[in-house]
Amino acid sequence: MARFGTILLTGVNGQVGYELQHTLSVLGRAVALDRSQLDLSDTAAIRRIVREIKPNLIINPAAYTAVDKAESEPELAFAINAEAPTVLAEEAAKLGAMLVHYSTDYVYDGTKLSPYVETDATNPLSIYGKSKLAGEAAIRAVGLPHLILRTSWVYGARGKNFLRTILRLASEREQLRVVSDQIGVPTWSRTIAEATASALLNWDDSKSGTYHLTSAGETSWHGFAQAIVEEYGMLREARKWPVLKAGVVNIEAITTTEYPTPAPRPANSRLDCTKFANTFSEVMPGWHEALKEVLNDPKCRPV
Ligand SMILES: NC(=O)c1ccc[n+]([C@@H]2O[C@H](COP(=O)([O-])OP(=O)(O)OC[C@H]3O[C@@H](n4cnc5c(N)ncnc54)[C@H](OP(=O)(O)O)[C@@H]3O)[C@@H](O)[C@H]2O)c1
Repeated sequence: MARFGTILLTGVNGQVGYELQHTLSVLGRAVALDRSQLDLSDTAAIRRIVREIKPNLIINPAAYTAVDKAESEPELAFAINAEAPTVLAEEAAKLGAMLVHYSTDYVYDGTKLSPYVETDATNPLSIYGKSKLAGEAAIRAVGLPHLILRTSWVYGARGKNFLRTILRLASEREQLRVVSDQIGVPTWSRTIAEATASALLNWDDSKSGTYHLTSAGETSWHGFAQAIVEEYGMLREARKWPVLKAGVVNIEAITTTEYPTPAPRPANSRLDCTKFANTFSEVMPGWHEALKEVLNDPKCRPV
């Protein structure tokens, strides 16, 4: 079993960061920092804190994740998603440490008709996607042992995400309109954290590289919204949860062109996770099964 001594974890209040702090205890002593303790837009602070903590492993789930806002804040998006990982990688390399970093399906343009494999050409459509891709490239260029995990459509019981937005909207409105021509895989933040820990338990430096990591299956945003409302409805009566105003039939399927956003999204966000499964002997759960588990968390109630 791989053990890592001291682990520096960034972005501990984010969806994945929050789950990671609970899964890392088997791997070593985690020093988990939020934005107020380590601001990734401050490269001098990053260098100082890494040198103070002297980790054997850095795990970086912190990121600039406001996809639409990034179109008007490209400098900040690049500072956090590209420059900060560069500095983390440089400092880790000086200590002989390894780096775990997360990336996104948005590094692809979505024109491929089947799930993307790691060797497919990237072509991000958005500033967010470009900044994440630049972060990946910088880590590879530093040349330290690393794990770059590209995931998609992250959600969980806490934080700002599609699941919680749909539950809120369905409790406020009778009709919802949701895009049905973007296909991908909703992935629970806890699934990502558990798979990360499992990969690290089976770690050796020959496994260094980039991997796709999502739940199994596929759906559209519209299909995901319908599943959320349907599963909620099935649990509601027994659990005495509030009734939603919108049912499954009240969710209208619309096209991406009917829902314009500042940042373009790939039509196909599906990532083939075979490489991760084969390397780390880890089978990813189906997205619908994970959704049922998340809905049982009290934080998922519509407010
Ligand atoms: N969310 C998705 O749908 C999605 C999809 C594909 C890939 N990913 C990738 O997966 C990883 C984890 O995403 P997530 O969903 O857990 O993101 P998240 O919930 O948005 O959390 C991001 C975290 O980064 C922190 N952060 C932002 N700016 C920072 C700064 N300047 N200094 C320090 N921390 C800062 C945030 O701090 P505050 O809590 O203070 O805001 C937050 O805790 C990221 O690499 C993301 O790019 C996410």
